[in-house]
Formats: sequence, C-alpha cells, structure tokens
Amino acid sequence: MSSSSTTQSQTLFNRALDVMPGGNTRTTVWHAPHPVYAVSGAGCRITDADGNVYLDFLNNYTSMIHGHANPVVAKAVRQQLELGTCFAMPTESEIVLAELLCSRVPGFERIRFTNSGSEAVMMALKAARAHTGRPKVAKCEGAYHGSYDFAEVSLDSGPESWGNADPNSVAYTAGTPKSVLDDVIVIPFNRTEEAERILRAHADELACVLIDPMPNRAGLIPATTEYLEMLRRVTSETGMLLVFDEVISFRLDYSGAQGALGVTPDLTSIAKIIGGGFPIGAVAGSADVMAVFDPRQGKPLAPHGGTFNANPISMVAGTAAMELLTPEEFERLNALGARARAGVAQAFANAGIDGQVTGDGSLLRIHMTSVPLIDYRSARATEAQATALSRVIDYMYANGILMAETGMCALSTAMGESEIDEFVEIFASALASSGQPRHAAE
Ligand SMILES: Cc1ncc(COP(=O)(O)O)c(C=O)c1O
Repeated sequence: MSSSSTTQSQTLFNRALDVMPGGNTRTTVWHAPHPVYAVSGAGCRITDADGNVYLDFLNNYTSMIHGHANPVVAKAVRQQLELGTCFAMPTESEIVLAELLCSRVPGFERIRFTNSGSEAVMMALKAARAHTGRPKVAKCEGAYHGSYDFAEVSLDSGPESWGNADPNSVAYTAGTPKSVLDDVIVIPFNRTEEAERILRAHADELACVLIDPMPNRAGLIPATTEYLEMLRRVTSETGMLLVFDEVISFRLDYSGAQGALGVTPDLTSIAKIIGGGFPIGAVAGSADVMAVFDPRQGKPLAPHGGTFNANPISMVAGTAAMELLTPEEFERLNALGARARAGVAQAFANAGIDGQVTGDGSLLRIHMTSVPLIDYRSARATEAQATALSRVIDYMYANGILMAETGMCALSTAMGESEIDEFVEIFASALASSGQPRHAAE
C-alpha cells in the first residue's frame, strides 16, 4: 500500500488519540505507527478507510469463521432487530443455541452464556472453585485465556522470570496482587512428567486444571495425546476438574477439539465462532458441575448475572453461523487449512530459509525457526526471529494480507483454494524479500 493510502487512517487515529489512551481500545489491534481503520467487510475481504482491500486471514482473531457480512447470519440478525434486542427476560433464542451446542458435544450436558471468552473462562474457574471448595487453579505457561486475573498468570513470562523447569507464577498486568499469583499453579505445556509431578504436589488445593488443547500464544502446537490423557487421569484421581478453553479451538471440528481428541473435560469455555460475529461466550459441562449455577434453591453456589447474557442478537447470529457449519463444511474448511500449511512449509523449503508452520484444522502459525517446537519455551521467538517475522508480516500487510502479528492465521468458509494459493504466493515473495539467510544446499 502506498504511504498516501494511510491518510484517512492517520486522520482517524489522530482523532482517537484525543479520546482514548494511545488512541486504542483493544490492545491486540494496535499496529505501529497507527492501525489501519476498517470500513467494511464482505466474505474474505476487508476494505479500509482509504479504499485498500485486504484478504482477511485473521478473521477478527478467529471468530469470523464465515468471513464478513454472511447473508444468512445478516438475515437472522435483521429479523431479530425488528423484534427487540434484549430484555430482562429469557427468550427462546437462547434455548435454540443451547440445544444446538449440547447436541454436538457429548460433554455439554448443560450450558450458560456469557458475553466474551474472558467471562466464559472466568465463570468456568469460579464454577470449579464452587464445586470443589478448593481455592487454586492450574494453567499452562504461556497460554492465553483472556483477561481474568487468574487466567492471565505467566502469559508472557520470559527467561528472566520463568524460573527453572517448574515454571514460576509471573504477573502479566502490573499491580496483579501476590495473592493471585499464589493461587495459580503454572505447569509446563506438553511436558507430561513435570506437569504431573507439580499437579500432584498441589492436589489438595487445586480446583481445576485449565488447558487450551492448542494454545495460540504458546505456539499453536497441539497438546500431545499423552499430555491430555495424563491431565484427564490425574484430575479424576485427585478430585480436580479438567477445564478446556476452546474459545479458539472449538473451530477445529464439529464437536470442537475435544470431539476430535476424544477427551471429555468436566467444563469447557467457548466463544468467538458461536456468536456469528457478535459478542458471546459460554461455559458448558456436566450437569453435576453446572448445577453450581442453578438458582432454583435460592442463591446458587456460583451466582452469575450479566446484562447482555444470551441477548437474542448474539443467539440468533450464533445459531445461524453454527447451522452453516455442517460436518462437510468443517471438512472443506480444514482441507483448506491443510493446503495453506503445506504451501507455507513448501515455501520455506523452496526459499531455503529456516522456518516452520504449526496449527491444525483452519488455523496456522508461522515461526521463523527450524528448531523443534513442543512447548511455550521452545516456541517463544528470539529477538532475531521476532524481527524476521515482523518483516514478513509487514510485507504481507503491504501486499494485502491481514494476519496476526504473532504469525497466526485463521481461515474462513468464505475462502476457496484460490484464496489459499494467493496467500501462499504472497508468503513466498515475502520470504524472498525478507533478507533472511539461506541455509546451505543439501
Ligand atoms: C484461548 C482463548 N481464551 C479466551 C479468550 C478471551 O476471549 P474474548 O476475547 O472473547 O474475551 C481468547 C481470545 O482471544 C482466547 O484466544
């Protein structure tokens, strides 16, 4: 994009600076020197304030699984708009989406809606504490679970703070109380023996283990079967709950990642795709554990209000979006994901540049290293790798591809093979112009 094309975005950013800190109201969309402002989206393309068009491989951080302005979702929302958007009364729309989700996932006996994935994780952790009567939670080093204090611990710890093989509990937000750190036990992702030892040492105080089966910030590396089976076994033996964060990974399969993996957690947090592009989250699980929210006998063990919980707009949009996601559509979308990952791997091989791609289903993440990646520590980019990745992503952006600054990409059903090939072609040119050293011919 030419520099003159940023004029409108620059103007908007200057206005934003006068009313928002750093002109920003969502840390993850900050882009130096200023973000590009979107005006509209249709299918897999977004148009910015200066008329530039981007092929969207970010899809609002994985949530827009059908791309933008999907006509089926839009029609459902338009119909609901005429009927009113929220009431201090439940509506049938929440039952419809709850029935759809519970019918797809064997572990979802009961479900409750929230307004975001952060809230869904928060309510899952509160439910686990309420059900077990234990105060602490365990989570994996480097995994992102939204903005609840306890879920944020050790999100971005580095070598200077993360400790030895047993990870330290490291604050993410300045001012996090020490009591929060004391109540979060951090385990290493995909290191089965170490994690089991740590969990057993704290078993009496732990309400649950929170795990994303393919944590994006920890490298978008799938959890190994051995690791997940250990977590299921240890939590069952010690009376802890196993909580899956499927806020992103729910897009991996018709029954979420847990369906594909064959592991049933006690509770699951979901969000993003289930709202059809509107704010949403949900916590689901066994009827026994979810009973902590049941108000019929008076104050529940875990009270949970929320002015916009299960608002009918999010419910009808989510239902329309999820109904479009048939098993066949998941198969087609995931095949596109496989094509994209294969294309990226081939581009690295052709360029003779160190790099690899992780991910599964319709998700991928690009890493500028050939070192085997198994956990957060191995996947955490060095300064040189981060600089090389930024150069590649800047090139992609300048050539009309939108993706996350971490190298993560999420596909949409609005794409076909030609969009995947367009992406791979631009990625190959990005590598060619990256200035990265080529390794010796083999
Ligand atoms: C794995 C995971 N959990 C939780 C969240 C928080 O969801 P939300 O942004 O809807 O609050 C996210 C958001 O990206 C996420 O990726």
